[in-house]
Amino acid sequence: MRDVKSKLLPDQNFPLCLAPMVGLSHVVQRKIIQHYMPKNATTFWPTEMLNSRRLPKEVLGINSETFVDMSEEHREQNIVPQILGNEEIAIRESIIRLQNVWDIKGVDINMGCPVQKALKHNYGVALMGDSDYAARVVEYAANATQKLSKKIPVSVKLRAVGSSHSIPELISFVEKLVNAGADWITLHPRSAEQKRRGVADWNQITELKKNISVPVIGNGDIQIADDVIKMLSETNCDGVMAGRALAARPWMVWQLGEKLNFDSPVAYQNQKAPMTDLEEGAEFGRMLLMYIELTEFYFKEKIKMSEGLILRRILFFIKTTHVWLEFGHTLMAHSTRAKTLDELKIYVNNFFENEQRMYQRTELRQ
Ligand SMILES: Cc1cc2nc3c(=O)[nH]c(=O)nc-3n(C[C@H](O)[C@H](O)[C@H](O)COP(=O)(O)O)c2cc1C
Repeated sequence: MRDVKSKLLPDQNFPLCLAPMVGLSHVVQRKIIQHYMPKNATTFWPTEMLNSRRLPKEVLGINSETFVDMSEEHREQNIVPQILGNEEIAIRESIIRLQNVWDIKGVDINMGCPVQKALKHNYGVALMGDSDYAARVVEYAANATQKLSKKIPVSVKLRAVGSSHSIPELISFVEKLVNAGADWITLHPRSAEQKRRGVADWNQITELKKNISVPVIGNGDIQIADDVIKMLSETNCDGVMAGRALAARPWMVWQLGEKLNFDSPVAYQNQKAPMTDLEEGAEFGRMLLMYIELTEFYFKEKIKMSEGLILRRILFFIKTTHVWLEFGHTLMAHSTRAKTLDELKIYVNNFFENEQRMYQRTELRQ
């Protein structure tokens, strides 16, 4: 098993991709995962959710959410940004703009965001409450992609329908989206009430895949490379998306690549991916230092973000990912005390001077 079952993008050959996550799925996270990608493996890359009401007027690249590296040496490829919205003109203008500036290869519509602000404006998961309205939003996006010099696919990322997780309801909802122009669907099978806790109901992915004509990407409860293989074979989905665990264990793409017979990453030619709890613990330390350095490079030098804000961003990353480390709470407590990036680097170096163990699994709470 090497190729993704049906290619979502023409040159895609790798079945795992990063999930859009506010505050996390930015250029630094993409670059870190890319660093561990098997040689010649290609997938697509999300952005954090971008508000279509703001995008048309926003100066792209001056904050971390909208920074995509388009420089000749480090150019990012296969960007499929996620947009949040429900208005025709805003969606159209956003898509045209993103295509012009980042050469995007697709656009994803958020139908899963459960925060109050999204509900108030009637987008995010609120769209799942009204299938005709949701279909109209997909149609706005699909029509906009027709206006581009080259048509790009439209995907929709959604949650389980209602607290009852009704499969017939889910299928009829998605059929409407497909008829309106959705080219693939990503399903995070937790309801809005579950937020990101509790078990993701993979059976919904299986049933959706069986019953709709477009590719399905599964998301939820992926913590290790074997989970990716398991989701692909159990649900027959076309690709897998991982968020929190892929941020904590970005070398999961390398581990998965080994199982799928890809070559090792360019930076680790002929080496084996970290596997044991100690190897992974040590890699976490190296990765975190690389994360801090890349954050300095992009957010401090390019975006000119203040050191205080940068520290807050890195702390958010540590807060999300430390739960996979045996003594992650100590790392978190120490990092919180850092007043400067240099101090943070010293804390991180000191912490990882001692052997650290990384868990394969942890209870996902946030
Ligand atoms: C901090 C954070 C921010 C998130 N932001 C978004 C978002 O902007 N758009 C979205 O569709 N989902 C968002 N999600 C949900 C993830 O994309 C994903 O569906 C969820 O975390 C389950 O996958 P995981 O268990 O692999 O993390 C976010 C999740 C986290 C943890």
